[in-house]
Formats: sequence, C-alpha cells, structure tokens
Amino acid sequence: MYVRPATAAAAAFLGFTLTLLGGTASSAAANGPDSAAATAAAAAADRAVLGDPVVYAHRGASAYAPENTLDAIDMAMRLGFDWVENDVQRTRDGELVVIHDDTLSRTTDVEEVFPDRKPWRVKDFTAAEIARLDAGSWFDEEFGGARVPTLREYMGRVQRNQQRLLLEIKKPELYPGIEEQTLQLLDELGWLDERHVTRRLVVQSFSADSVRIVHGLRPDLVTAFLGTPTVADLPKYAEFTDRINPWHTTISADWVEAVHDLLGAHGRAMEVDTWIVDDAATARKVADMGVDGIITNAPDVVQAAIDGL
Ligand code: G3P
Ligand code: CA
Repeated sequence: MYVRPATAAAAAFLGFTLTLLGGTASSAAANGPDSAAATAAAAAADRAVLGDPVVYAHRGASAYAPENTLDAIDMAMRLGFDWVENDVQRTRDGELVVIHDDTLSRTTDVEEVFPDRKPWRVKDFTAAEIARLDAGSWFDEEFGGARVPTLREYMGRVQRNQQRLLLEIKKPELYPGIEEQTLQLLDELGWLDERHVTRRLVVQSFSADSVRIVHGLRPDLVTAFLGTPTVADLPKYAEFTDRINPWHTTISADWVEAVHDLLGAHGRAMEVDTWIVDDAATARKVADMGVDGIITNAPDVVQAAIDGL
C-alpha cells in the first residue's frame, strides 16, 4: 500500500509548529509586498516537509470500477491508495446508503427492476429494494451483481481494507437529520475515537449548513466545505471548517494561498483538496498551486504525475 511520508498527524503537528513560529509560509505574503519570494521559498519548504498532495480515490477508484461500490474501494486498495471518497444518502426507511445521484437510474438497473417507480429517487426506495439492484453492470458486465452498499457495509469494507475515508454528506437538504444519523453510525462503529478523527476520517459537504452542523455535533472532527468561496468570504468558513475543497477549474495559486493563510476551526492552517483531476497535466498544475490533496477517479494516474515533480 502506498503510504505518504507525511501523515495527517505529522501535517497537523507541523501546522501547529508553524503557528507557534508565527504563522504558515503563506502568511508571509500578508506581511508586505517584498515577501513574495520568501513566501514562495517557504511554501516550497513546506511542501518538501509535508510531501506531495494526498491522493484521494473519488467514489473509490471509479475510473476502474463502478463508483461508490465495494469493488471501487477494493480497486483503490489494490492500486495502493488508502484514502477513499464516498457519497452518503438515505433510503425511505432510514438506512444510510452510499450513492452519488439522488436517483438510482444512472448507476443501477432500477428502471428494469421497478419500471413503475419513476423518477426512481433514492429516498423513495427502501433499503431492501435498493439491495436488489445491480450497481455494477452499467459500468462493465465484469462487475455485474455489485450492490449499492449501505454505509454500514461500506465502513466494514473500509475497515477491512485499512483505508481512510473522506465522507461526503450528499444533498443533506433532502435528508433532515442525516448529519446526526451519520455521526451516530460512525460512533457505533468506533470511527469517532481520537485515532480515527485525527487520522482516518474527514466529513465534507457542498452544504455549509451541513458542515456547520457536523462541526457543532463533533467539534473534534476534521471537516471540509465543497466549493470555492471568495477570498473575502473565507474567514466565515474558517470558523467552522478546516478545509475548502474546490473544483479544480475554479482555483489559482493566489486563492490556494489565501486559504492557507487562514487558521481553520482547529487552529491550524486551512487546507485545500481539489477535485476531480484525472489527467497528469492538471495534476501537476494543481500540485504546483500548492493544494494539499487531489481527489481523482484515477488515483494511479495522479500519483504517477505528482511523483515526477
Ligand atoms: O469530493 C469531491 C467531489 O466528490 C465533489 O463532487 O459531485 O463528485 O460529489 P461530486
Ligand atoms: Ca462526492
């Protein structure tokens, strides 16, 4: 398994140390116009210590196996990646399941199995009904029979694979209380102890409200907001989250630096994990911008690209 030289704990320690020394490298930029070169050198030094960006397998290694299935995280493991990303939603009878779209049509055979249930929304089906669906054949017949996993099943596989999880609460406006329910399950499964919250788990959402709720319920958890707030708005986010995770086309080195310049909810420099980067050139480009993580369907491609930097 590929293991980064700088773990999250080491990064956290370094962030703490830099804070004690007067701030992160990028905060030098705020101290005067003549500090740009020093900032760049210090940022390079930071990266040398912290290592390359962390690579996250988006919906598992979803370029090579059907997204958000157990096959996709097994594929990530086989490729040597321990960080996997997923999407969590809820069934009609209250089971948390791992699926990206809020309908079942694109990634399962639901239209054949339940032809009269249009528009085939996740929240309109029971867990038992969803368990009947084939979530693999749409991707490749080789994966026929793959299922939409419950979050409980998914966590069991993450645990077995000794992986780490970037958990996205998807469309929380459709599922009132999903934050608390998700945390309850994670707690029951032993994923909210100190070791897990410092090293193995990050919770993210496109909903700032949802991230704020998670932070309020479990202030020890690392969280991320998905989006690209303006630099002027960033301090508001820093009050309740640790990371800002933007689409790669929306960012610049200056924006990344502005995020790094702030201390997040845990008093450490905020981080940036960008998505979805699936080619070598873009991977190198965002790595050069100084991002902390790259979320990708093809983790092997991205890792090979940034290893060459
Ligand atoms: O982890 C970032 C990414 O998953 C956000 O977009 O639509 O793939 O959930 P989406
Ligand atoms: Ca996602």
